[in-house]
Amino acid sequence: MARVVVTGKIPKPALDILRRAGHEIDAWDSEEQQPREQLLEQVAGAEALVTLLTEKVDDELLDAAGDQLKVVANVAVGYNNIDVKACRSRGVVATNTPGVLTDATADIAMALILMASRRLGEGERIIRSQTPWQWGMFYLLGSGLQRKTLGVVGLGAIGAATARRARAFGMNILYSSRSKADSALENELMAHRVDMDTLLAESDVISLHCPYSPATHHLMGAEEFAAMKSSAYIVNTARGPVIDEAALVEALKSGEIAGAGLDVFEDEPEVHPGLLECENAVLVPHLGSATIETRTAMATLAADNAVAMLDGEDPPTPIR
Ligand code: GLV
Repeated sequence: MARVVVTGKIPKPALDILRRAGHEIDAWDSEEQQPREQLLEQVAGAEALVTLLTEKVDDELLDAAGDQLKVVANVAVGYNNIDVKACRSRGVVATNTPGVLTDATADIAMALILMASRRLGEGERIIRSQTPWQWGMFYLLGSGLQRKTLGVVGLGAIGAATARRARAFGMNILYSSRSKADSALENELMAHRVDMDTLLAESDVISLHCPYSPATHHLMGAEEFAAMKSSAYIVNTARGPVIDEAALVEALKSGEIAGAGLDVFEDEPEVHPGLLECENAVLVPHLGSATIETRTAMATLAADNAVAMLDGEDPPTPIR
């Protein structure tokens, strides 16, 4: 019987997997984040950690857990909260949850594209604040998506699923990616791989789907916004720091770009105060994977990863 520490509240079916495997579960049972000091105590003696993306898994946490630790099973596809190198150097396997949140996240990306380009946030605020309004020929006009170009930054599973949705709305697809996508996928999406400069210059909407790493820190900054069309939108469902938020505020306020749809922020849960002043920014609180089905699938996959490692088997989705 291994000690499994679950650092945040997760859906019951995932806890059931861990229990059925016969492990001793120590699970934080509140949606409030556990204070770090307490977390450092909680992880002591764990053979498996099931972590949320709000938990920083670094040397300090790994040391606090101890040498018996075998696996860190992150309940997220993004794993910038985990120092994977530090895990490897201790022989700890880290896992994530790819695949199961692809559609939910692409849905949110498409929703943000629609909300930003059709000014739905502004419209909602007008109604809710009981601001007088009237149908008008030129009232709150946005931009249509048909025959426009979506630039996908990072054509992984979520980028491709977003592109598929955009195709259904009549958009053409450009993408930039470290490697060329399969020809079958390119053909299906009628997608063309271009360099970042071309993508910035030609896209009417840019949607970010790259992982966050030092290489993608502030990938979108002042220069990049200046290179976009003034009629273009930027959408981020990846990780906040891929965008330089201060530069984005400037670009939104000066009209350098038309609008933004953000699900993620540079310093979550803080939001740059300048963004709050931008009517042309749609801001939602990191909801990419927030459906009951998806969160359950993510947590059960993380539990499967933990159980497999504890049983001496290959986990289904290790971070490579
Ligand atoms: C959510 O942001 C995730 O990475 O799973």
